[in-house]
This record gives sequence, structure tokens and C-alpha cells, in this order.
Amino acid sequence: MALPRKITLWEAGPRDGLQNEPGVVPTEVKVELIDRLADCGLTHIEATSFVSPKWVPQMGDHEAVMAQMKRRPGVIYQVLTPNMKGYEGARAAGAEAIGIFAAASESFSKKNINCSIDESIERFRPVVEAAKRDGVKVRGFVSVVVGCPFEGDIAPAQTARVTRQLYDLGCDDIGLGDTIGVGTPGKVKAMIEACAKLVPVEKLGGHFHDTYGQALANTLAALECGIARHDASVAGLGGCPYAPGATGNVATEDVVYMLDGMGIETGVDLKKLVQTAWWISDRLGRPPASSVARALKSKCL
Ligand code: HMG
Ligand code: MG
Repeated sequence: MALPRKITLWEAGPRDGLQNEPGVVPTEVKVELIDRLADCGLTHIEATSFVSPKWVPQMGDHEAVMAQMKRRPGVIYQVLTPNMKGYEGARAAGAEAIGIFAAASESFSKKNINCSIDESIERFRPVVEAAKRDGVKVRGFVSVVVGCPFEGDIAPAQTARVTRQLYDLGCDDIGLGDTIGVGTPGKVKAMIEACAKLVPVEKLGGHFHDTYGQALANTLAALECGIARHDASVAGLGGCPYAPGATGNVATEDVVYMLDGMGIETGVDLKKLVQTAWWISDRLGRPPASSVARALKSKCL
């Protein structure tokens, strides 16, 4: 299959990245990060999540983030909403794009959102209905698409089944999350091929964590399957508090560098992105996890 010529990058750093920090990052840092990312040319940014602050205190300032962040025309700022309470909060804060998140394994579903897979689908149904009525874009996520921290390997058909359930609900696209980064390109391709039998491939997105150093290879494997939407996180920030051991998403800088080298358009300014990776990493007190950010430090800063 010919590779896509243009890729939509979804920047997950402010949400997936900062939800997994040991401490709560100050609101003003989150707000500046979001604005810096938009200034890099990223047009899809996950800003925060309207989940329970008892479950994820790191995202407890979602209303303040939404109130203080600049909203640039042409940029989609998405927030996670696990239920109607989250949806109502997100809408009151002016959200125009939301994400709902299911899992391919029962154990992870229970740990992350405290219900079974089928219960989660029923919980999302009114959320998607309200979003459709309100003209709000909906992304669906499926977590643990190739492997689960509690159940081990996940069969491609199982991931495909949940992906189809989210598609049937009315999601505009569905991000396939290798939450704990255990996937390798062959497994990822088999999983995507199973999903693409049930859902059009142009509706699918890649969301690869880099716990085992496989995320860039898995991104390329997904590209080779025709997937043109990819999540990535500046400086390789990220993880899920309910997925033990999970580290960050594939770094946005690494993806942009690879795609630039392949002549695939992203619209992102790599130099500004590397500067942003170092800026947020300085605030967090450690160097970026991204190889490209480290390699280009002296050229970009
Ligand atoms: P629960 O305890 O079963 O909820 O949690 P509940 O309905 O019984 O409510 C309990 C309390 O939470 C009540 O408050 C509710 O009002 C409140 P109380 O009466 O005790 O004071 N509550 C809320 N508060 C604020 N916002 C809400 C909300 N809902 C209920 N939306 C629930 C169920 C889904 C809420 C909880 O499990 C939760 O918040 N989970 C979120 C976990 C999470 O955010 N995980 C990380 C994001 S997913 C991820 O990272 C994966 C992804 O990146 C893809 C990948 O990598 O695979 C997307
Ligand atoms: Mg994630």
C-alpha cells in the first residue's frame, strides 16, 4: 500500500503526558504548553480530561485550563470525557471535541473506568448522542489493543470487536492505544488488519506508547497499513496511571523527524517543537525522552 502523503498528528502531551506526572503540574504551565504546541503548527491538541479528580488528580484543574488557554482558529482542542458528568463539564467549559475511552480487555476497563466493556459502551451512548446533537467531534479510544497489563496478549479480533462498537456508536475516528507499549510491528499490523475488516481504515488512528522502545516502529507499521492519524506526545511524555509501568507516548519530535525524512507532510515546525520539548522538560526537571529532541538540542535552542 502507498504511504499516506499527509498525516494528522494529534498532540497528546498536555493530557496523556501530564496525567502521568507524579505531581500536579501548575495550570499556567499546562496553558503555556498548549499554546506553544499550537504555535509549532499542531492543529489537534488534547488539552485535558474531564475525569474524576479522585481518580486522576493531575487533571483536576480542567476547568481552569479550558478557561485560561488561548484558542486558536483552526486548532481542535479535545478533552477526554468518561461519562455524561464529564461531557457536561467539558461543554460548560467550551469543549468542541471530546474523546471517550474503552478498552480491549475487561480487566483494564474495570481498573481504568470501573466498569465492564459493554457497560462502558452503554455509558458512552448518551455522551455520543449529546455530542452529535451539539455538533461536537467525538474520538473513540480503545486501550490495550495488543497487550494488557493484567491479561497479557489481546487477540486482534477482540480489539476489532470493541473498535467496531465505538464506530457503531458514531465516533468520528478511533485511536488504537498500545497503552503499555508492548506491541511490535507484526502484532500491530495484525491488529490493524483485523480492525480494518470491521471499520474503514481512514477512521482508525495510531496511539503508541514507547515503554519497550517500539512506538516509532509501530507508528511506521501503522502508516504502512494506511493509517494517517497518529497520536504523539511532546518530549515523549505520558502514560496511564491505571496501567502499571506504562511510559510515554511516541515523542512528537521523533515522529515529525521521521515523517519529514520520508517526505510526508505534517505541518509541524520541528525546530519549535524541539524547543517546546526542552521547555516542558525543564519545567518537569528532566531531559526529554525523545532522541530527536536530545540530538537537535544544540541546533534548536
Ligand atoms: P466511579 O467511581 O465508578 O464513578 O468512577 P461514579 O459514577 O460512581 O462517581 C463517583 C464519584 O466521582 C462521584 O463523586 C461523582 O460525582 C464523581 P462523589 O459523589 O463521590 O463526590 N465523578 C466525576 N467527577 C468529575 N468528573 C467526572 C466524574 N464522573 C464521576 N467525569 C469514572 C468512574 C469513569 C468517573 C472514573 O473511573 C474515572 O474518572 N476514570 C478515569 C481514569 C483516567 O482518566 N485514566 C486515564 C485516561 S485513559 C488513557 O490514558 C488511555 C488513552 O491514552 C489511550 C491509551 O493509551 O490506550 C486514552
Ligand atoms: Mg495513552
